[in-house]
Amino acid sequence: MKNILITGGAGFIGSNFVKMMLDRHLGYKVINVDALTYAGNLENLKDVAGKPNYTFIKADIRDRAKIDEIFSTYGIDTVVNFAAESHVDRSIVEPEIFLTTNILGTQVLLDTAKKHWKIKPGDKYCKEYKPGVKFLQVSTDEVYGALGKKGMFMETSPLLPNSPYSASKAGADMIVRAYHQTFGMPVNITRCSNNYGPYQFPEKLIPLMINNCLKEKDLPVYGDGMQVRDWLHVSDHCSAIDVVLHKGEAGEVYNIGGNNEKANIEIVKFIVVTLGKSESLIKYVKDRPGHDRRYAIDNTKITTQLGWAPVYTFERGIKETIEWYLNNNEWIENIVSGDYVHYYDKMYRT
Ligand code: NAD
Ligand code: DAU
Repeated sequence: MKNILITGGAGFIGSNFVKMMLDRHLGYKVINVDALTYAGNLENLKDVAGKPNYTFIKADIRDRAKIDEIFSTYGIDTVVNFAAESHVDRSIVEPEIFLTTNILGTQVLLDTAKKHWKIKPGDKYCKEYKPGVKFLQVSTDEVYGALGKKGMFMETSPLLPNSPYSASKAGADMIVRAYHQTFGMPVNITRCSNNYGPYQFPEKLIPLMINNCLKEKDLPVYGDGMQVRDWLHVSDHCSAIDVVLHKGEAGEVYNIGGNNEKANIEIVKFIVVTLGKSESLIKYVKDRPGHDRRYAIDNTKITTQLGWAPVYTFERGIKETIEWYLNNNEWIENIVSGDYVHYYDKMYRT
């Protein structure tokens, strides 16, 4: 493993991952390919922009010719695919781009890797890790659908996605699995719960609430606010991906989660109190259509088989995250002063 193609590396998790890989693996070359959609931001990477073992290329993962050229030029032996349309609310308003980027883009990457890695149907590596090459698909717990009050998602749980976003991610998982089963492509799929931390685009719950709170704007809580998510600090997600990349068995899926379930309203109230604002800013609004009630991840497989464990407690992580947004006001202002829209306003007008 030497020349790693990280797609979507200018987004929230991708940019944290690029920086972690450059810090941890000095001998690796990191090639970051990102289309710089509304969510991609090179500001996230300014600290590493000049590093000799780091290259940024503005390209779309759906552009077959360009992806082929990148594989040839850089001798890519590893792919970590973060590139995606990632926001559920947007997928309700504009589903098509979710399908083309998240499914077809993934297939372009798989096909190109298959060609350059000379992987053939029925390849003997089907059940083994082919040394030196790997395709890691960054997926999500949302592919499993929603839970009731009890239970947790296991890697063996059925895929029952409920939003266009999660359906597109499940579609990508299926095509990644098919390339393993049919061609012997050495793949892993990781399915992580909700991330939080620095550089998250302010359309997502935590940075949106911090930003609105600081400006004393309404805090729109969907439905009754009792939907439950499992929250994991982005650096713990990145370290889990690094572990799966190096130790994961080819063809396997690994759930990643923090055993840290919180109702949305708890998070919003914590942010309000920490920033010393009034709870009167909280406004209960009409629910997201098809809103998943609860997610919870069973992470036994990655913890017991690969030895990964999260480092952050939620208390430490959320405090540091709030501080980061306070100290990086310019980063968020550059985004929200542009053509940024909270898609809630559009969800019922589709
Ligand atoms: P993000 O929206 O912040 O970043 C996505 C990045 O992909 C952006 O930089 C964007 O420019 C790029 N991109 C989009 N379309 C592209 C295309 N066609 N070609 C090339 N680049 C393109 O998303 P994120 O929150 O960092 O999520 C990254 C990945 O992790 C996604 O695949 C998402 O499904 C998955 N994931 C996210 C979470 C979470 O809580 N945010 C949890 C689990 C899994
Ligand atoms: O579970 C992993 C997923 O987490 C990732 O796959 C997605 O890419 C990521 O966007 C995230 O999806 P969610 O829909 O859970 O995240 P979001 O931040 O949009 O919403 C979190 C919860 O907060 C959800 O129950 C909806 C609610 N919410 C969100 C917003 C933006 C509100 O109540 N008000 C809001 O304004």
